[in-house]
Amino acid sequence: MSHAEEEHEGTRRDFLYYATGGAGAVAAGAAVWPLVNQMNPSADVLALSSIVVDVSSLDPGTQLTVKWLGKPVFIRRRSADEIEEARAVAVSDLPDQGAENANAPVGADASDENRTLDEAGEWLVMMGVCTHLGCVPLGDAGDFGGWFCPCHGSHYDTAGRIRKGPAPTNLPVPVATFLDATTIQLG
Ligand code: FES
Repeated sequence: MSHAEEEHEGTRRDFLYYATGGAGAVAAGAAVWPLVNQMNPSADVLALSSIVVDVSSLDPGTQLTVKWLGKPVFIRRRSADEIEEARAVAVSDLPDQGAENANAPVGADASDENRTLDEAGEWLVMMGVCTHLGCVPLGDAGDFGGWFCPCHGSHYDTAGRIRKGPAPTNLPVPVATFLDATTIQLG
């Protein structure tokens, strides 16, 4: 077989492979859809998408981690130093300048005030999932005194904003509200 023929064979084989793969994917998609459709959440399941967390045990400078929708959520009661440190940072110095906060208006910037749950900035609630590839970052760690993801070295500051390393965005703040002074609802 000449080189040209070999090349042609190769191309044809690739084409057949992709065509078969494509058909497989379509068939699988068709089979999966009714299942997904059946899995649309009913009202009782939707109710579970909210949880209530008692945060009365948290002193300033401590945090707890709860599991919500299968993922860790960090709830931190920040110390005065942590708040001051986070508020001293100019938004223009941040790799991700978006608030990444489901409770903030669309387009809000990543200033510390737009990241926290209360105006004083004591309460920070974030998904505990590194925005690089999904590891769980460690608290009270890293070069910026916030969180550190040891998987590939992402450093987040005391507002959970990415400052150094491969993670592209700040740790996202989920929908959260205070029900009373010591109770937070997620979702
Ligand atoms: S998963 Fe966190 S740095 Fe890669």
